[in-house]
Amino acid sequence: MTNQIQNPIQPDDASNKDRVLIFDTTLRDGEQSPGATMTFEEKLEVADMLDALGVDIIEAGFPIASEGDFEAVAAIAKRVKRASVAGLARAGFKDIDRCAEALRHAVKPRIHTFISTSPVHMKYKLQKSAEEVLALVTQQVERARNHVPDVEWSAEDGTRTELDFLCRCVEAAIRAGATTINIPDTVGYAVPDEYEALFRTVRERVPNSDKAIFSVHCHNDLGMAVANTLAGLRGGARQIECTINGIGERAGNAALEEVVMAIRTRADVLPYHNEIDPRMLTRASKLVSAVTSFPVQYNKAIVGRNAFAHESGIHQDGMLKNAQTYEIMTPESVGVSKTSLVMGKHSGRNAFRTKLKEMGYELGENALEDAFKRFKDLADRKKIVYDEDIEALVDDQIGHAGERIKVQALTVIAGTMGPQTATLTLDIDGHHTTHQSTGNGPVDAIFNAIQALVPHKAMLELYQVHAVTEGTDAQAEVSIRLTEDGRSVTAKGADPDTLVASARAYVAALNKLMDKRHNASTTPATARLKP
Ligand code: KIV
Ligand code: ZN
Repeated sequence: MTNQIQNPIQPDDASNKDRVLIFDTTLRDGEQSPGATMTFEEKLEVADMLDALGVDIIEAGFPIASEGDFEAVAAIAKRVKRASVAGLARAGFKDIDRCAEALRHAVKPRIHTFISTSPVHMKYKLQKSAEEVLALVTQQVERARNHVPDVEWSAEDGTRTELDFLCRCVEAAIRAGATTINIPDTVGYAVPDEYEALFRTVRERVPNSDKAIFSVHCHNDLGMAVANTLAGLRGGARQIECTINGIGERAGNAALEEVVMAIRTRADVLPYHNEIDPRMLTRASKLVSAVTSFPVQYNKAIVGRNAFAHESGIHQDGMLKNAQTYEIMTPESVGVSKTSLVMGKHSGRNAFRTKLKEMGYELGENALEDAFKRFKDLADRKKIVYDEDIEALVDDQIGHAGERIKVQALTVIAGTMGPQTATLTLDIDGHHTTHQSTGNGPVDAIFNAIQALVPHKAMLELYQVHAVTEGTDAQAEVSIRLTEDGRSVTAKGADPDTLVASARAYVAALNKLMDKRHNASTTPATARLKP
């Protein structure tokens, strides 16, 4: 393991004072959103994308939380060569040692260790006095520093922590060797002025504050995560913790794409810089949405479907005269290119490949071939293939890659004559098995057939159908959330046939649950905790 911190900025580097580090926690805080589970392969794909996007630090997971988290952090640590790779650890030595083990092969490893410092967390969650917590701060950072030179310490629930105590903890953490100090707004409670003042005051009051980089980490419970993040920079923070599409605990974290584009677009008042390639933001958003099955809201800033759409006559008229009338940044600057190719059943492989590139997808040869076959099938069944159709098809393929159980064939009898019947064949680890079930409607019949073929206790929490485009021949995109033993997963399925899409979505969710079950069973029960 290296003995040098290889951060692009050092705390005392005055020549680089406006460089901000982008610390992405999509794979850790983001993956903690209920239902947003990613498989091992999906996590690697997201890590590769984040590295190419230009983030400085990838928080890859919480190694002690499960065997699956450990394996994913270890694999990401091994493959990522440019960014630092961080793992999360609570204050306990077992957590920290496990985290160090997962990061063993990282070129630039970082241990991110945290403890709660607010009165309410210390009293009820930790059941420890302030003095006990203060002693643990020193111990946890020293332990982490014995493993790696780059240690981040976080004061969980920092914005509800008593200021004097926060300053004592920060000073102790830096004295023990922390190189980054994070003051999170864990519960999304702060307002911008207050958060800015907090950083300014802590940095002024703590005598050794110049030895560390300060970091912001904001949750969006009151919709102020991005505003607070930017305010933290004004207060002197130089690391931003954020996630793609703003996913994360509860209402989520500050969205990376929003923070990055705010800084770029308003450089006049936000004179900070980073290494993110904004043209990759759309692609990053699509990938995270596809692997988590979390849809991006249509009006989401920067990456929502309507972010650059102009509907009203007055706006359209203005746009035609000069785009600057209603556009503060161009779609191209965030990787939305004006797609020029109209796709139909006569389109060839090359046009399809170019189209995908224009839309921000880059698939390997095998995945491209599979997507092309599905596109041809779709084009045979549907008059016009819109960009949204191709997007649904490719997202579906990405979301279903590597599944152990697949829908092989489905026949459904529905209508007024009942009983509705589904005959379903599943491919389970390469073996085909068929079952016929009835149900209270065709969807119920399908889900009963799945239950018979793959017995499980999961509860269906959400079943949602969405038409990808207009018209009765539109593809259906079905979202499903299943919950089992407190674990919840979300998955999507797309197909021109709503019933096939339903079966695909349910089976995809089961695959994710099996993955979670496997991870949990190979992890000691005491370790199955999230922060
Ligand atoms: O929100 C939070 O406080 C966290 C910490 C673990 C940094 O995610
Ligand atoms: Zn958080």
